[in-house]
Amino acid sequence: MKLILAIIKPHQLESVKVALSKVKVFRLTIMECQGFGRQHGQQGLVGGDEIALNLRRKIQLQVAVNDEFVHPTVQAIQQSAHTGEIGDGKIFVVNLEDCIRIRTGEHGPAAI
Ligand SMILES: Nc1ncnc2c1ncn2[C@@H]1O[C@H](COP(=O)(O)OP(=O)(O)OP(=O)(O)O)[C@@H](O)[C@H]1O
Ligand SMILES: [Mg+2]
Repeated sequence: MKLILAIIKPHQLESVKVALSKVKVFRLTIMECQGFGRQHGQQGLVGGDEIALNLRRKIQLQVAVNDEFVHPTVQAIQQSAHTGEIGDGKIFVVNLEDCIRIRTGEHGPAAI
């Protein structure tokens, strides 16, 4: 099991949701967040010594998946969130120790 954390541009959310549904991923959590990457939140590359750390609004998707879904999920997010501009986002893939489905008490892959 993996936890896929994807930080994307808010405008790409609808296309990412459609892409995930096409690979049969129908369970996810979405959080509004702010952050910056290697341009320190600038819209474009700027010269000079001054570094402004401007937070940008992003959406973080959290998707817990079983192993066979990892590659299709990452691929779907990568393709649907891509605009080619800076700030398109990042996908982190994290090992997931366990999952417990509260209503049934199931554990592990069956609970995902
Ligand atoms: N190493 C990181 N750790 C935590 N959050 C990150 C990291 N890199 C990026 N993020 C988050 O992802 C968002 C989008 O990152 P972004 O796409 O700008 O990354 P980048 O490395 O600057 O790539 P690009 O050059 O394509 O802009 C950031 O606003 C931040 O919230
Ligand atoms: Mg960036």
